[in-house]
Amino acid sequence: MTFIVADNVSKTFLTKHRQKVRAIANASLGIERNEFVCIVGPSGGGKSTLLNIVAGFEKPTQGEVLVDGTVVDGPHPSRTMVFQEFALFPWLSVRGNIAFGLEMKNIDKATCRQRVDRYLQLVGLERFADSFPSELSGGMKQRVAIARALAVQPEMLLMDEPFGALDAYTRETMQEELLRIWQQEPKTVLFVTHSVEEAVILSDTVVVMAGRPGTVRDVIRIDLPRPRRNTDPRFVEIKGRIQAEVRAASGATPNGPSTVARLRA
Ligand SMILES: Nc1ncnc2c1ncn2[C@@H]1O[C@H](COP(=O)(O)OP(=O)(O)OP(=O)(O)O)[C@@H](O)[C@H]1O
Ligand SMILES: [Mg+2]
Repeated sequence: MTFIVADNVSKTFLTKHRQKVRAIANASLGIERNEFVCIVGPSGGGKSTLLNIVAGFEKPTQGEVLVDGTVVDGPHPSRTMVFQEFALFPWLSVRGNIAFGLEMKNIDKATCRQRVDRYLQLVGLERFADSFPSELSGGMKQRVAIARALAVQPEMLLMDEPFGALDAYTRETMQEELLRIWQQEPKTVLFVTHSVEEAVILSDTVVVMAGRPGTVRDVIRIDLPRPRRNTDPRFVEIKGRIQAEVRAASGATPNGPSTVARLRA
């Protein structure tokens, strides 16, 4: 059975000024268990909205999302989200942040400690266990956010531009780390990015969304063996093809592509 099914999903928001914004229109998508899927597309194209619907934070106006055959009607601990902003708890230490979800699940103290240590190590932050978020760099904060999401060992990891604020070197390291973790502890990953290169490095499947309203424009299978090299001619060819799709998707907006959308694509 297809693990995640988005069936004809539409979402219209009502703004504070009572205007309707069609964020997603008739988006359908199927994702297999343990598949690594990246979503790319122009800014404002409904990517975060789709992720929020799969997470259960937002309800579709029309259509539905099913996970493992069950309609999503709210958040669930088997699905964790890493947000565009790091969203750490500033009053908790690094250890406290990572332990948060485990404590909510009433996991015993010894297991909790072990689990936190394991994920601290996985993201290379053992030495900062007792630091507070305000004492960390952006890259370190994001690693805490990832460790926190992984620590509850979710079936599904939803990541909204998790590496967008990182420098190029840290970003590459984090991509390698995430792939390593995903290979060690298989889970379904839905990962939003503005970097087509990142999408081709990481994913089994790339979904190109077009705005506005957000629709699924194309679904592209990436059959390259891992680890992938961005100098591989097949990599370059696939990346070029997807970049062209994203450019076309950006141009599909009624008011033409925004500068930001063009730059970010
Ligand atoms: N809570 C909300 N209330 C009103 N409009 C919203 C809300 N959330 C999103 N929107 C609108 O829905 C559309 C899609 O937004 P969304 O955040 O899903 O885009 P995105 O593809 O994630 O963009 P970006 O790449 O910039 O993060 C946008 O026009 C946005 O203004
Ligand atoms: Mg977004």
